[in-house]
Amino acid sequence: MKKFKIAVIPGDGIGNEVTAEGVKVLNTYAEIKGNVEFSYEYFPWGCEYYLKTGKMMDDDGLKTLEAFDAILLGAVGDPSVPDHISLHGLLINIRQGFNQSINLRPIKLLQGAPCPLKDKGPQDIDFTVIRENVEGEYAGVGGFRFPGRPEEVALQTSVFSRKNTEKVMDYAFKLARKRKKFNKVTNVTKSNALNYSMVFWDKIFEEIATNYKDIKTETTHVDAVSMYFIQKPEVYDVLVASNLFGDIITDLGAALQGGLGFAASANLNLEKEYPSMFEPVHGSAPDIKGKQLANPIAMIWTAKMLLDFLLEEDDTEMIIDAITAVLQEEKTLTPDLKGKAKTHEVGDAICGKLKEIMNAKI
Ligand code: NAD
Ligand code: IPM
Ligand code: MN
Repeated sequence: MKKFKIAVIPGDGIGNEVTAEGVKVLNTYAEIKGNVEFSYEYFPWGCEYYLKTGKMMDDDGLKTLEAFDAILLGAVGDPSVPDHISLHGLLINIRQGFNQSINLRPIKLLQGAPCPLKDKGPQDIDFTVIRENVEGEYAGVGGFRFPGRPEEVALQTSVFSRKNTEKVMDYAFKLARKRKKFNKVTNVTKSNALNYSMVFWDKIFEEIATNYKDIKTETTHVDAVSMYFIQKPEVYDVLVASNLFGDIITDLGAALQGGLGFAASANLNLEKEYPSMFEPVHGSAPDIKGKQLANPIAMIWTAKMLLDFLLEEDDTEMIIDAITAVLQEEKTLTPDLKGKAKTHEVGDAICGKLKEIMNAKI
């Protein structure tokens, strides 16, 4: 029996609702497999915790989390706490504190999911964005000068280290080789304007590319990538982007695959020296929280990514098959997909299908 300890941080808003469904799917998978077991410890960290204690997570929170094999996080953010405090206090603190340099974000349109592009289908939208996840524009370096005076200035400095940039690029090339689509990596840049950071970024991309002569490369500015996502998403295989550019283009990617209700992500510490964290791309959605209106598919897909990272088995596509099966029936669609089903009903339906599919194959 393989045993894994998962730290669960449901967080704020719909984070609570979708996390419950992710855990259900992990348990269903484990139950049918029979040789894997998950135990969970829940942490109440988030905006409510902050309002009570003045902290988004405990001071020794990272130390506590080190004992776990993975972290499953719902979402962070509530209008009662400034976003830069809540997000830096919890989500970004864990990403950076555990050196989760790779943010893996698959963009794949499933059969039955609504694509906003009229002539595109599942065969056209299937790529993965590798987002640099611990430095770049999110390094947190900066300050305010002359506050309150007419000369007031704000500074926010990007940081790009050779070691980390090489690691992220290298991962992108390895993934392109593994995916066997076009064996192509697109470097998302903006070196026409950012004449230090992105020039350095491009240079490292070129250097790493020399180790992967079998992989095709292209370099495209982020503004153009945004346009091509809409015009010709079918040309993409693996894209590698800085922290901020990766953030922006993956919400655009989410739209292509049917909305934020489908967008999954993994924050990976490749060295496994700290736990990796799995969280959907979406936020806490205060506009729909507490009503079981959220689409849990992004979280369930995220749970699949957790399984992929921890178990390295080749059977987790069955979770995507179960999601796809549930998408075919109107009665198991949440309101973002024009259905009336509740979050937990969709989770239950996916678990039901997963059981059927796994039992038929095992
Ligand atoms: P959001 O992702 O929370 O919501 C954007 C829109 O998408 C809303 O209309 C929401 O209802 C909808 N939506 C999101 N997820 C959905 C789901 N699973 N099912 C159905 N509809 C869904 O983004 P926002 O409104 O910009 O941010 C709200 C809060 O969340 C802010 O505090 C923000 O900083 C935070 N945030 C956190 C994370 C995270 O924890 N990973 C990510 C993004 C935003
Ligand atoms: C994401 C989110 C976060 C980010 C925010 C909430 C800090 O948008 O995970 O995509 O920008 O990384
Ligand atoms: Mn984002």
